[in-house]
Amino acid sequence: ELSPIDKAKFVAAKRAVDFIESGMKVGLGTGSTAAWMVRCLGERVRQEGLKIVGVPTSTRTAELARQCGIHVTSLDEAKWLDITIDGADEFDQNLALIKGGGAALLQEKIVATASDQMIVIADAAKEVQQLGAFPLPIEIIPFGWQTSKALVEEMLVSMDVLARDVTLRMNGERPLVTDESNYILDLHLKRISNPRQLALVLNQIPGVVENGLFIDICDIVIIGHGDGRVTVRD
Ligand code: A5P
Repeated sequence: ELSPIDKAKFVAAKRAVDFIESGMKVGLGTGSTAAWMVRCLGERVRQEGLKIVGVPTSTRTAELARQCGIHVTSLDEAKWLDITIDGADEFDQNLALIKGGGAALLQEKIVATASDQMIVIADAAKEVQQLGAFPLPIEIIPFGWQTSKALVEEMLVSMDVLARDVTLRMNGERPLVTDESNYILDLHLKRISNPRQLALVLNQIPGVVENGLFIDICDIVIIGHGDGRVTVRD
């Protein structure tokens, strides 16, 4: 028996996989909800002989996809994708997202942007009125990271952001290193009043590679509930 939270993730993932047809090139997201999707997709490949190629957004997802019998390729090989299915840490009524809780935001954003359609799968707890309760991850290069962090903090002051604690994400005693060999800063902002502006400004700072705000990228959110119901936002 699945716990309510796993049930919610599973039913959302299962519904999303219904969107996939033979011949499609599919971006495979990262995280616990996306992992359900990869397993459901693998099931369809095995049972129906569905012919698809998957482009994973992390080494973790690549490994899982292979285990599930999904043919995996690189984005450069696939060039353009029909659809990407991924989780999110938060989404709002405009289908703007915070992603990167699993540290895969850079590949996730590149893959989602290279797709005709992005479907987000999430449990109902991820829906928010205003983004920002979940700390916003940004990916920075290791060179001069303390200077980049100081520049981010200065920028937040200049934008009158009230809560602006910025922390380097750790993996035990050492900084967490992403698949692209970068670091992650988590921006504890509580509320993001203008996600569009913040996303633009953050990416202007030298050393910042990408931020976890996904704006105008997601087309549909499939929401799973603990009782097995599914609702859809688009
Ligand atoms: C990975 O970097 C993230 O963007 C994930 O999509 C996000 O953290 C959601 O993960 P869960 O599905 O595990 O909540």
